[in-house]
Amino acid sequence: MNIQIKGRTHRYSKVSGLGVYRPTRIISNEEICQNIESSDEWIRERTGIIERRFAEENISIIDMAVAACEKAIADAKLKPSDIDGVILATISHALQTPAAATMVADRLGLNNPAASDISAACAGFSYALAMADALVSNSQANNVLVIGVEKLSDWTDMHDRGTAFIFADGAGAVVVSPSDTPQISPTVWGSDGSEFDAIISEPNWLDLRNLEHTKAQGQWPVLRMQGQKVFRWAVGQMPDVCRQILDAAGLSPKDINLFVPHQANLRITKAIMKALDFPESVKVATDIETAGNTSAASIPLALDRMREEGVAKSGDLALLVGFGAGLAYAGQVIRIP
Ligand code: UT7
Repeated sequence: MNIQIKGRTHRYSKVSGLGVYRPTRIISNEEICQNIESSDEWIRERTGIIERRFAEENISIIDMAVAACEKAIADAKLKPSDIDGVILATISHALQTPAAATMVADRLGLNNPAASDISAACAGFSYALAMADALVSNSQANNVLVIGVEKLSDWTDMHDRGTAFIFADGAGAVVVSPSDTPQISPTVWGSDGSEFDAIISEPNWLDLRNLEHTKAQGQWPVLRMQGQKVFRWAVGQMPDVCRQILDAAGLSPKDINLFVPHQANLRITKAIMKALDFPESVKVATDIETAGNTSAASIPLALDRMREEGVAKSGDLALLVGFGAGLAYAGQVIRIP
């Protein structure tokens, strides 16, 4: 009669490991300025970027993601066979299908895990982390790889004065595992699709196919950005989103050790910091200075830099917030493994 479907056991989750891949090719502001009318001084002042890294031509997002995941799995003291889920956030996978996550899982020699990509641009890492947290908390998976990876140099018009200086390449991954106590807070997330064209990849694939009918003739799809609009949205909305994240975590600014926002622009980071009135004890991520804006990869890359430099210590609480194309945003508080 009333037969019940078996439910899942609730438990908590934690970030158990972290790993990154930074491309070896360092690109100076001077090199960028060979293609656009700009200057090292302007780029530093307006974005905080001193240099960025582009992946070599023969290095794909799969290669970068695999390298980051190997480190994250080792950092979590797990074996590839322990991983049963892979969620990969990117906007620079060159194949419409299959998902990059399945290719990464295969290269890592995983045991047929659930594997899928998500597209939430610069909010992608925090979106993927929210999903992994839900899967592990619901006992739907045991150890989930969360990957943010981008090769934006493939999708940037190096002659576009509005974007050429900002975007870059890299990969970061964490493992999300079961925990007896909550080590990842509830996620606060959302989007405003009415501003879908504030950052957009153009032309779309169909326009590209119908070359003769469109202005797309000969154009490779690249990211176009209404920089000021996105800047104003981020500075206007993200402080409140951060307050909501802290509320959801039951924490106040003074409880936080690390603030790790998406590395969009150092001026945006500073504006959010100011609005939140963090105490001086809170350390802020500034990885953008040497990594550029790597969209979905920027939060794990910035976390790793802070750990490398001894700024982030095991047990610290980090407030993460991602924001960008969509316009989409997401964030949570995590404990550093
Ligand atoms: O990661 C996903 C989310 N993305 C973001 O969060 C990015 C958000 N936007 C931004 O970070 C900033 O809008 C940019 C860094 C992209 C641009 O900085 P801005 O301060 O908003 O520049 P602007 O477009 O307001 O232009 C200011 C001035 C203008 O000159 P005038 O009219 O004041 O004389 C521009 O012509 O800077 C000029 N300008 C440049 N000068 C040198 C614009 N682009 C450049 C350039 N080099 N590349």
